[in-house]
Amino acid sequence: MIQRYSGLKLILLVVTLLMFSCKNQQKMEESSAPEIDRQWWKEGTLYQIYPQSFKDSDGDGFGDFRGIIEELDYIESLGISAVWMNPFFESPLVDNGYDVADYRAIHPRYGTMEDFEEMLEGFQKRGIKFVLDVVVNHSSNQHKWFLGAQSSRDNEYYDYYHWWPAEKGEPPYRHSLFDPEGGWDYVEANNSYYLHTFAEAQPDLNWENPKLRQEVYDIMKFWADKGVNGFRMDAFQFASKDTTYPEFPEGHEKEFIKWYGMRPQLHDYLKEMYKEVLEPYNVFAVAEGAGSTFQDAHDLVDADRKELQVAYHFETVDMSRTTDGYELSEFKEVFSRWDSAFADDGWLAIFLSNHDNSRLVDRFGNPSPEFRTPSTQMLNTFLLSMRGTPYTYYGDELGMTNMDMPTIEEYVDISAIGEYGMAVKQGKDMDEFMKQLNYMSRENARTPMQWNNSENAGFTTGKPWKRVNPNYAEINVAAQNNNPNSVLNHFRKMTKLRKNNLVLVYGKYEILKKEHPEIYAYTRTLGKDKMLILLNFSKEESSINLPEIGAVQESMINNYNSVEIDSNTVTLLPYQAVIFKIN
Ligand code: GLC
Repeated sequence: MIQRYSGLKLILLVVTLLMFSCKNQQKMEESSAPEIDRQWWKEGTLYQIYPQSFKDSDGDGFGDFRGIIEELDYIESLGISAVWMNPFFESPLVDNGYDVADYRAIHPRYGTMEDFEEMLEGFQKRGIKFVLDVVVNHSSNQHKWFLGAQSSRDNEYYDYYHWWPAEKGEPPYRHSLFDPEGGWDYVEANNSYYLHTFAEAQPDLNWENPKLRQEVYDIMKFWADKGVNGFRMDAFQFASKDTTYPEFPEGHEKEFIKWYGMRPQLHDYLKEMYKEVLEPYNVFAVAEGAGSTFQDAHDLVDADRKELQVAYHFETVDMSRTTDGYELSEFKEVFSRWDSAFADDGWLAIFLSNHDNSRLVDRFGNPSPEFRTPSTQMLNTFLLSMRGTPYTYYGDELGMTNMDMPTIEEYVDISAIGEYGMAVKQGKDMDEFMKQLNYMSRENARTPMQWNNSENAGFTTGKPWKRVNPNYAEINVAAQNNNPNSVLNHFRKMTKLRKNNLVLVYGKYEILKKEHPEIYAYTRTLGKDKMLILLNFSKEESSINLPEIGAVQESMINNYNSVEIDSNTVTLLPYQAVIFKIN
């Protein structure tokens, strides 16, 4: 009897609890966020390291793995969650490592495989994921595959590349991004022309060949077995080509991606790669490039496609490729358009700089000594408060700037030299060309990391491979590390804020007063959580009137000590960036 009674009581209790939890569940569903697909590669900030320029441990003037190992604590202190490292494989270094001669070997300049493993373990111990650069649209012309392929048409590797047999006459013109002479080069030994989208020393791999594809998957598995967590697929939209090689119309190269990339077969390759590598190893992949349309980008990254996880588009970095600068209205328009196209499906990277662009603050902020600090802080606030995974390029957490390089003799970058050759060929005004190159060249972003104010900025004890930016005495880690108002500490606050507030990762983005000429204002909303982000993109004070301001609670981040609010109006100081929590 007693037992039955307790049994009944228990049942009643369980029913009551169930009812309570159902009600609660309902309440939660009403008030909280829609279901989100949480992934580490969406939530964290990714920090890009150009290994040649980060830290040299042995005095040869080139950055290396042991140098990076020395700075693991610094990297951890940034609050980033993953590192993407540019190529460090065996290579003749024609394009600084984007010409790989052996995908499983480390270039001695960077150290040994043991050094790599130690570095990787150092990241893993600190909870930092590692993203490898996979350069497989092309290899180096010194790769054993190409050396074999060029020796004879009967060679087992001949079909690893794209060839045009010379007995068919001259191949139809193909543009090369780095070679003013065009995209075909003739090889006498096999009497064929090979195709190269980039430099002559970077022959394109033939993805139509299943053997080549398998080789690539094996390479990816080799690194996944070592513990890398992701892959950045270099120039991958060009991996598929129209191999009937039709004639292209004059001037077609202005729409380069349309003519040279994103053929339908690309998706077959990516689906195969997903099944072979990404899925079984639980690693993610990000593609360089997102095609020419939203549909192209969705087809690459939507979850149900099972291809890639993230893509980065170039519309923002392509926006202002001259010293004339850019318009804030266009900047807002581009980011808002992409965000709304990806509000429900797919995921994008958010970036404004990398090893292929000049420095963040020179392109989008104000590098003058007066405004360098607040404008870089403002841009970093933007990058880390948008939807999408923020990619921060080494040195941008300090506000490192472009370096004046007025004459071509100083450039070592194959792209700068190629563009110079092209400009000469086209009879361009070379003074104007050099002015633009000096501003836009990606070599600006490859100068050594500025650690402190000792000789060579603490990057090397030897002669650095590239001159250190003379402003290293003012802009360096040591000078900023303990200054709470520095660019560096602002960056750290931002990574922390993002980590602790999922609303900044997954929240819906809505632009406010989009016609405001100086201020970029938007909200991020996730369930009950809402943040208001206000960024002054100008060197003048500027005000904005918004009803949302009446609801502001605390400010979560502010690159000045205070912010002026008068009823619904906020007045921002030059390049001021504020994030408010709002009701
Ligand atoms: C990508 C890389 C770039 C390289 C090119 C050729 O665009 O980001 O640095 O030069 O591919 O590999």
